Amino acid sequence: MSIKTYDVKDPSLASAGKLRIEWASREMPVIKLIRQRFAKEKPLKGIRISACLHITTETANLALALKEGGAELVLCASNPLSTQDDVAAALVEYGLPTFAIKGEDNQTYYKHINSALEHKPQLTVDDGADLVSTAHREKTQLLGNIIGGTEETTTGVIRLRNMAEEGKLKYPLISVNDAKTKHFFDNRYGTGQSTIDGITRATNVLWAGKKVVVCGYGWCGRGIARRAQGMGAWIIITEVNPISALEAAMDGYQVMPLIEAAKIGDIFITATGDVNVIDKAHFLEMKGGAILANSGHFNAEINIPALEKLAKAKRQMRPFVDEYTLADGRRLFLLGEGRLINLAAAEGHPASVMDMSFANQALCLEYLAKNKGKLKPKVYPVPEEIDNEIGRLKLEAMNIAIDSLTKEQKKYLESWEEGT
Ligand code: NAI
Repeated sequence: MSIKTYDVKDPSLASAGKLRIEWASREMPVIKLIRQRFAKEKPLKGIRISACLHITTETANLALALKEGGAELVLCASNPLSTQDDVAAALVEYGLPTFAIKGEDNQTYYKHINSALEHKPQLTVDDGADLVSTAHREKTQLLGNIIGGTEETTTGVIRLRNMAEEGKLKYPLISVNDAKTKHFFDNRYGTGQSTIDGITRATNVLWAGKKVVVCGYGWCGRGIARRAQGMGAWIIITEVNPISALEAAMDGYQVMPLIEAAKIGDIFITATGDVNVIDKAHFLEMKGGAILANSGHFNAEINIPALEKLAKAKRQMRPFVDEYTLADGRRLFLLGEGRLINLAAAEGHPASVMDMSFANQALCLEYLAKNKGKLKPKVYPVPEEIDNEIGRLKLEAMNIAIDSLTKEQKKYLESWEEGT
């Protein structure tokens, strides 16, 4: 291992972290199978990996599988507020240098990314593309030795595609987010459930009867809307894409511009990957008592600097709840400093869903190592056989059997001559 140091909040939290990691492993049967195979085959033997991920119990289970596969792994946080300090401590005890402290400032956040890059990675794992973009901006001397990398989330994939389009991307990346076994489940059911969980833990609000405005009806937005509706809330969707807006309307939700929704919403949740979605004009229309939360990757979806400027007073009411009092006395409540609320105020996605996302990560890293030198510096999809295999393994683990095509059906579906 090239790195001997680490930076975590409190190493003595390790035993609590280990217990929680073990608890999450119960719900990660696919990762368990991969870990067992990796232990035998060592497909990542001696390969240096730097991983920038939310430091959670699920990430720890992925990390242990990669370690079992022979990787020399170093981790850093992919968000200043998402680290679980006990897990960071446990990772260090498992012999995995980790650089992550919940609540770290921006400077420390980037210092930690740089520490992970000092490992001189041959493979990178990223969630939001901060590690990849830092390497491309500040550590260009490392790029020639990198075999490839993986990216976990929508926002990261968008950034990487922009880099590739400008000809700036220097090594191949696989967009794990675009696997069906990732975004159909993680973004929708994972973000759906854990966003409601984060807001509930931060505020203890009753959802029943609340008017909940969900900004963005993509994979995350669909999940959040469905789960909030299940809790008895009225749902209003705001969108910029006509087809997504139409889908929301036909799914039975009210759809309107945010400036209208601003007047009636009790709880606002952004999940767009966009910037300044909730802006000054919207704050000015909101009812006193409105709660604002974000589940998109960056804390840029709610214009916090504009809110700071409008406010004549600010105080913390309880953990993850900041009260902003406007000039006319209305009070708006911002949760988790506008950072992804499911990870800031709760534990992120349930392990069962991360099982599939991280199975994609592990198998794609194996694929990159096997195909060293064969791939171009562009953004690749997850190979279909990996995606399908993860779906099959997850179904098996859930004890769900399905039908298979008969010979006759296969022939029929592969032909074009027969119409009836
Ligand atoms: P998506 O691309 O499926 O959906 C985003 C939607 O937002 C699109 O329908 C788009 O038209 C809409 N949108 C864009 N600008 C808008 C605006 N100004 N107003 C209203 N709607 C707007 O993306 P997905 O997968 O739903 O991801 C959304 C964000 O959540 C990304 O930043 C992603 O990285 C992040 N994410 C967060 C997770 C978490 O744990 N909190 C988990 C997975 C993704």
